[in-house]
Amino acid sequence: MTTSTIQSLMKQMTLNEKIAQLLQLAGPFFKGSTEQGHITGPMAAMPISVENIEHAGSVLGVSGAAEVISIQKKHLENNRLGIPLLFMADIIHGYKTIFPVPLAIACSWDTELAQKSAEIAAKEAAVSGVHVTFAPMVDLVRDPRWGRVMESTGEDPYLNQVFAKAFVNGFQGQDLSNDLQSVAACVKHFAAYGAAEAGRDYNTVDLSERQLRESYLPAYKAALDEGCEMVMTAFNTVDGIPATGNEKLMRSLLREEWGFDGVLISDWGAVKELIPHGVAEDDKEAALKAIKAGVDIEMMTACYVQHLAELVTEGAIEESIIDESVLRILTLKEKLGLFEQPYRGADVELEQQVVSHPDHLQVSRELATKSCVLLKNDNHILPLTSNKNIALIGPFADSGDILGPWSALGVREEAVTLKQAFEKHLPTNQLNVATGCHVETITQQQLEEAVQAASNADVIVVAVGEDSEMSGEAGCRTNIQLPAPQLELLKALATCGKPIITLLFNGRPLDLHGVIEYSDAVLEAWYPGSEGGNALLDLLYGVTIPSGKLTMSFPDNVGQVPVYYNHFNTGRPQGAPDAQERYVSQYLDAPNDPLFPFGFGLSYTQFSYSDLELTSTQLTKDSEITATASVSNIGHFTGEEIVQFYIQDVVGEVVRPLKELKGYQSIILEPGETQQVTFTITEDQLRYHHADLSFKSDNGSFVLYVGTNSKDVLSHSFQLISQGRN
Ligand code: NOJ
Repeated sequence: MTTSTIQSLMKQMTLNEKIAQLLQLAGPFFKGSTEQGHITGPMAAMPISVENIEHAGSVLGVSGAAEVISIQKKHLENNRLGIPLLFMADIIHGYKTIFPVPLAIACSWDTELAQKSAEIAAKEAAVSGVHVTFAPMVDLVRDPRWGRVMESTGEDPYLNQVFAKAFVNGFQGQDLSNDLQSVAACVKHFAAYGAAEAGRDYNTVDLSERQLRESYLPAYKAALDEGCEMVMTAFNTVDGIPATGNEKLMRSLLREEWGFDGVLISDWGAVKELIPHGVAEDDKEAALKAIKAGVDIEMMTACYVQHLAELVTEGAIEESIIDESVLRILTLKEKLGLFEQPYRGADVELEQQVVSHPDHLQVSRELATKSCVLLKNDNHILPLTSNKNIALIGPFADSGDILGPWSALGVREEAVTLKQAFEKHLPTNQLNVATGCHVETITQQQLEEAVQAASNADVIVVAVGEDSEMSGEAGCRTNIQLPAPQLELLKALATCGKPIITLLFNGRPLDLHGVIEYSDAVLEAWYPGSEGGNALLDLLYGVTIPSGKLTMSFPDNVGQVPVYYNHFNTGRPQGAPDAQERYVSQYLDAPNDPLFPFGFGLSYTQFSYSDLELTSTQLTKDSEITATASVSNIGHFTGEEIVQFYIQDVVGEVVRPLKELKGYQSIILEPGETQQVTFTITEDQLRYHHADLSFKSDNGSFVLYVGTNSKDVLSHSFQLISQGRN
């Protein structure tokens, strides 16, 4: 089918048939789904029933080849013009093979593996009938109280862009139309959902346009530049107007300025939410605002199907605005080949072979080992040797709740737990397992059993964290410490006088006071996915050496939040250690610095940085500078180091961040080996949004930093010359 045949199809469509394309409903509305059209809960309030399901153009959250084929078949039998349904689902970090959560994946800084994980997720989802995934989520995040930070790749605009691209490429592959094992990607949540005030989900976002463009928008743009087919709106306001009804954001910026002509979908219920937001009187006005803003598909509310026709009749909107949306939707259906192959990749037999394939699980294991971040390792307690007796203690010692939120079809009971992994590695008499406490409760008996198990061991491995309901959508917390019972457990174990290795399972940066001081080693495992236990054993015993680095700062305490590395300076000294000096920019009761900065992560070996040299200290628009630093492995293990490269613009027209990541390189060094790592500096890396929003660089002084994290760096100055400055 070509554009002209889509247009001639559209000519045959009634207005109501067109509007039906703009509605997305969840599985229970479709007869033929497992629930057989039985609608319960809040969905029952929808003024749509399974009987008038011709009012939908796409389906949300249904997968499984047999189910998708059955729904599509029934739909086509009843659809006068044979227009197939599009099946969309949240395939965020794996379909059945679950990978670490996105924030963890980012800590690998490994875009190739990230892309591979998305490719596998797409493959498993596509054979199970999914056409579009609601991913990647690229919202920049600075507030760990917000539960959805686990879905993001962190606080840095540059890293968010490179991961956005990797995920889009992984999901969509090289040839979306013909590769039936790929799915269309939908970048979300447009825009700036990650900046919800006070870290409370769905809350107000109020940013200057400069800040929006400088920090928050680049990752969405990067996904679109990579060919991402769809965009999802955000729940929040942007400059006083909810994103879903925001014409300036959607029509002027996304469509006109960026030229996006793909499908824009609202988030769940976000069109109707224009009413409680206080910008629409009723469903009809909500429909009017959303369609005018450019939202093509309304997810899970019925403002469009109930009111768009009326709005056309009344002359409030032109029918052409609906036609534009329908054209975009049908074009995507056509691009996915659905008119010719309405089941696309859905294949009941292939599904059995592809889903949870051992090769996929192997990639998940590899990615999990690279995603963990070693935060502390006193006296080289890690890696362990296999002759040690281990007490494995804590609510995550034998828990399958290591897949994390949004784990699609992942089955907790099938995830490899720590206990299972230890049992494969150690003889029974070397392993003693005790729960110690539940995630949020503790009993005296549990505590006593734990202390007993610990006293008979050489090393205590404590597995603690947040259960997966404590982060993710609507999973916000104001207290970002471990729940008190787990801190009590750690404190009690510390009295045993044995080395303690703490493994953390969580979806956000935590305040680790009460953990750090009682632990000899701390390994941030996040939610590591299907192969979590195996990956952690690989790290604990040094089969793999930790190399992950944080992509979101860990605050010293929640009162510092938001705390992020790429902040501005103030006019006053920052956090002067001299307590006599009052009028400086500091807290009276806490440091300014986070406990662990962006980019931080230890290895079992040590790296030393030296000799940062530049080929020139003067840069012009047409030249480049090569910076070289020597990195040496001065420890005893072969290890991987992520060498980071930052730039500071010392004087700008507007204030500039103290550091901005501009690149990084992963190198593997043998003990005693030194490598020269080079970075290229060019003028385009120095551009930023000026007060009038123009994007350009200024002449003047810059500082280049190279280091192992955003804080511990070597530095060198250079000048940008012969560049006009207004
Ligand atoms: C709401 C979430 O905000 C969004 O990320 C998700 O894709 C949709 N629900 C659909 O499940």
